[in-house]
Amino acid sequence: MADNKTMLNETEILEKLSEGFVSRFGGDGFRFFFAPGRVNLIGEHTDYNGGHVFPCALSFGTYAVARKRDDDRVLLSSLNVGAGLVSETSVSNIVKSEGMDWTNYPKGVIWAFLEAGHKLPSGFEVLFYGNIPAGSGLSSSASLEVLTGLVLRELFELPNVSGVDLALYGQKAENDFVGMNCGIMDQFASAMGKENHAIYLDANTLKYEYAPLTMPDAKIVITNSAVKHQLASSEYNTRRAECEQAVREISAVRKIETLGELTPAEFEELKGNLSSDVLVRRARHAVTENARTLDAVNALKAGDIETFGKLMNASHDSLQYDYEVSCPEVDVLVAEGRKIPGVIGTRITGGGFGGCTVSIVKNEQVETFKETIGRIYKEKCGLDAIFYIASPGEGAHELK
Ligand code: GLA
Repeated sequence: MADNKTMLNETEILEKLSEGFVSRFGGDGFRFFFAPGRVNLIGEHTDYNGGHVFPCALSFGTYAVARKRDDDRVLLSSLNVGAGLVSETSVSNIVKSEGMDWTNYPKGVIWAFLEAGHKLPSGFEVLFYGNIPAGSGLSSSASLEVLTGLVLRELFELPNVSGVDLALYGQKAENDFVGMNCGIMDQFASAMGKENHAIYLDANTLKYEYAPLTMPDAKIVITNSAVKHQLASSEYNTRRAECEQAVREISAVRKIETLGELTPAEFEELKGNLSSDVLVRRARHAVTENARTLDAVNALKAGDIETFGKLMNASHDSLQYDYEVSCPEVDVLVAEGRKIPGVIGTRITGGGFGGCTVSIVKNEQVETFKETIGRIYKEKCGLDAIFYIASPGEGAHELK
């Protein structure tokens, strides 16, 4: 059974980054930055449907050490990829690389800054290191995007770029440069996270409020199924297109811009206008998940964790059966988790098709949860689950 005890701590990471930076680029005068991953507690596949989400930033994410250059060159390197490899581009010639190249995320953010009219008077060099497992649904790519934006803002002294802008530039990079049609949730959580709080965000208006995650008796446990999701691989974009189709069909009788405008009761009355069972189920998920998110935040504010947990369970069922973005391995984690006393709620989190579950577990049951799930998951799926205890952390910042 693996868990996050094996992760390097921040001091160790910064040491490795310093060494790596000096061996690649030499000299001194570099600065350190960090942007977190996120876990979404509830509100899944609602952000691009004009609904609400409720994520929190994590204490792990992506680190960078960076420095301006005197010329136009941009040198990108990562401790996670290819020993010592440095990829080179230039501010005046940002072009997308073929295939699944990680440098497209930072390049996309540079492109988004330039598109927005920001001046980047020189190039820069940067070395990254991330401790979020890629493809685990904890937003490794969003953290890389937000981090790149932070590096640009700080190195080039662009004080007008707000935290929300960092999120928007990250999303633009992902949508229009990388080609994945994601919503705003991940980048927003990474840029705007707050210690010990989750963010209740209206993805339509970007109005948000911080809700304290005061659960003295329980912990947020993330379980990585070790099944890598392939979000960009079309299914995500297909779901999004199906929801847009549902909006068009409903609009024939009642004009709406997004599914987030409908209550579950209104949807029940309108669903007869949808042309297929698939569209009914996709739209029903978007509508009911939005309602569950509102209810869950209210329950949390009232200190009613039990109701919060029930809504998480209902969220999973809806994602499994109506939205069909779970997978057999994750369904095993959820079904087995529900059998353990002290598990208040458990569901898939993030884009889906693998990745992680998020569970609220009573303090005294956390070890039993990890031991039991770890064992049964290995028996049933032949895989090693990895556990992390989430400690909701700050959004992207410079490390001084
Ligand atoms: C991915 C996307 C987010 C959001 C989630 C599903 O993480 O990047 O915008 O849509 O999936 O809730």
